[in-house]
Amino acid sequence: MLFKNLPQSAPFKLFEDYYQNAENHNQPIAEAGCISSVDKDGNPHSRHVNFKYFFEDHLIFFSSYSSDKAKDFESNQNVAVNFWWASINVQVRLEGKISKCSEKFSDEHFYGREAGKNIAAIASNQSQEIESYEILEAKYEKIKSEIEEGIIKETRPEDWGGYQISIDYFEFWEANNDRLNYRESYKLENNEWRRFFLQS
Ligand SMILES: Cc1cc2nc3c(=O)[nH]c(=O)nc-3n(C[C@H](O)[C@H](O)[C@H](O)COP(=O)(O)O)c2cc1C
Repeated sequence: MLFKNLPQSAPFKLFEDYYQNAENHNQPIAEAGCISSVDKDGNPHSRHVNFKYFFEDHLIFFSSYSSDKAKDFESNQNVAVNFWWASINVQVRLEGKISKCSEKFSDEHFYGREAGKNIAAIASNQSQEIESYEILEAKYEKIKSEIEEGIIKETRPEDWGGYQISIDYFEFWEANNDRLNYRESYKLENNEWRRFFLQS
């Protein structure tokens, strides 16, 4: 995850410090966090994504705008994200509102990625049913050859791009002896971050 222009306020700095600490302790894929959304019928759904940037007060990942999660975000902007870094036994819970990144930002990320990942983004209709995995592999191979032969271009699909979460709640949880765990929270209230502690 890349950090840029983070607000000076405490929870952002603390998040970056914990993240760097996890990486320094060889945490595999520290940028992977579980994001939960709620669908139009009120049912929750969770999945991991790789958060690639923390820019200003926005946590950012990339995905299909036609996926199941995208449909959830359209009907309900409220999301929750959970990181658990086993290497330091720390959990960070975040909550906020999600929206799409600008097309320019999505383009910059897409055109800076490895071709293989982009071909997968072009070939796959994320979350849609398919008769078999082999059919998806065949779609991938066909598009790969067409790009290599110059028949089609490796263009960012219109329904693929960034999602940014504007955070309004952080909870930092650290494991401690006898389950007397440390819980430090920050809630955005009237544009001020209120800091408080929770019992474990
Ligand atoms: C560690 C990890 C990282 C992932 N990163 C992403 C990601 O950055 N973007 C994405 O769309 N899916 C990612 N996935 C796949 C998602 O978990 C999920 O299968 C996919 O987004 C479809 O979810 P949906 O059907 O709820 O929309 C990742 C999965 C794992 C296990």
